[in-house]
Amino acid sequence: MARMRRPLIAGNWKMNGLRADALALATGVAEGVKRAGWIDREVLVCPPATLVMAVSEAVKGSGVLVGGQNCHASVSGAHTGDISAEMLRDAGASHVIVGHSERRTDCGETDAVVRGKAEAAWRAGLLPIVCIGETLAERESGRTLTVLETQLKGSVPVGATAAKLVVAYEPVWAIGTGKTPSVAEVAAAHAHIRRVLTGLLPDAGVVRLLYGGSVKGSNAGELLAAGDVDGALVGGGSLKAEEFLAIAKAA
Ligand code: PGA
Repeated sequence: MARMRRPLIAGNWKMNGLRADALALATGVAEGVKRAGWIDREVLVCPPATLVMAVSEAVKGSGVLVGGQNCHASVSGAHTGDISAEMLRDAGASHVIVGHSERRTDCGETDAVVRGKAEAAWRAGLLPIVCIGETLAERESGRTLTVLETQLKGSVPVGATAAKLVVAYEPVWAIGTGKTPSVAEVAAAHAHIRRVLTGLLPDAGVVRLLYGGSVKGSNAGELLAAGDVDGALVGGGSLKAEEFLAIAKAA
């Protein structure tokens, strides 16, 4: 029987990759996924915007999905330097990450802004991966669950369903640091997220919740086995095909 929540392993390449290296990475991932023949999990790569089209072409026929790392809320217009969800779709993307903590911090994206981007993804036919997560100060002051709840209520648009939404829980202090919460802490956060989503979605029980923050081949098995974890959002560990494939294998 197919699992209700098919694991999604997503690679967030961030601002890394020039054409030659990125295509080698994409091809390596595509070949590994093809070889494995997985039908019980999804593998997604999110290259920088400049490479979405080339990577989409490079992975064609392999089953590897391609996503953007961000989009603007509008369809088009006077927004110099921005990219719309429609443009990502046109370049071959099926997914888009919205509200990553680096964008919340670097670009001042609020929950309302993130919600607008998730709505733009729907408009363009993309699946948004909405990112939330507490800072170290918030965790140390015992506010983790409250912060997650506030971010979810502010960032998830009205009308969301499990088919139209993926949520990624990424503790800010775990991103790129080599530190991760314990398996029990991840499970507790994810259980809380699912509980909060129950008030927002008709089918919260089947929405996919990804864990992100210092996921590697060596810790993916235990993190992905935690309760309510349906995949991973992987930064550094997605920049080498072998490492990323090892994470996907662990799902
Ligand atoms: P990391 O990044 O795997 O390098 O910690 C995860 C992310 O920011 O999505």
